[in-house]
Amino acid sequence: MSTEATALFDRGGRDYDTLVSANPGYHRDLARSARRLGLPGGGRGLRLLDVGCGTGASTRALHEALPEASITAVDGSARMLARARDKPWPATVRFVHADARRLPEAGVHGPFDGILAAYLLRNLPDPDAGLRLLLDLLRPGAPLAVHDYSLPRRNADRLLWHAICWTVIIPAGRYVTGDAALYRYLWRSVLEFDTPPQLTERMRRAGFARVRTAAMSGWQRTLTHTFLGNRPDA
Ligand SMILES: C[S@@+](CC[C@H](N)C(=O)[O-])C[C@H]1O[C@@H](n2cnc3c(N)ncnc32)[C@H](O)[C@@H]1O
Repeated sequence: MSTEATALFDRGGRDYDTLVSANPGYHRDLARSARRLGLPGGGRGLRLLDVGCGTGASTRALHEALPEASITAVDGSARMLARARDKPWPATVRFVHADARRLPEAGVHGPFDGILAAYLLRNLPDPDAGLRLLLDLLRPGAPLAVHDYSLPRRNADRLLWHAICWTVIIPAGRYVTGDAALYRYLWRSVLEFDTPPQLTERMRRAGFARVRTAAMSGWQRTLTHTFLGNRPDA
């Protein structure tokens, strides 16, 4: 049942939090994407899904943006999910070990009032099918925020990605975890993934309406984005 990606996160995910804490923009940018869902007030009465929740960083961002919402957080890596569950959470947050491609089979049913998919889509073997499944889980009009690396075609941005991976991310991954496989996979998967226009087109093709992108700041400005779309109104 595990994908190449979830198996890598099971192996290399033990020190995930240590590594992301060295990137000051990581949590700030997830918080931006959670707020960009544009959901009202404190979220009272809303049901949200955090798909590919990992160690819970994106779940925390959702909870802080919408503290009164109930959140279902799903991940396919038992080890990442165990780290998430170990953190303090209110009773409104529940974690489910499941493959994002088979959520209804795991008892995760819509309709949700909003979905955050942070660094997930790039890891799915069939991102189109993944997007269609997420669309089906949303209530009409409700938003999806895809938060991920998506490199523009420009050489300068691709060179920046190579430089960051080979001088910082991969050496740090090897130093902290003793195994850089997860971080080499990150480097490669981002290079192979969609450019921003390709990803917005992919979301439209899957059936999302009002598809748009929003930028980050700092060194990730051209590399990481929020891609937003809504299930069309009924
Ligand atoms: C880079 S982590 C991001 C975690 C979290 N969203 C965050 O922002 O910190 C990506 C997560 O996606 C999960 N993942 C990848 N493919 C998956 C799949 N098919 N089903 C469920 N989870 C998956 C991995 O196990 C991993 O925990």
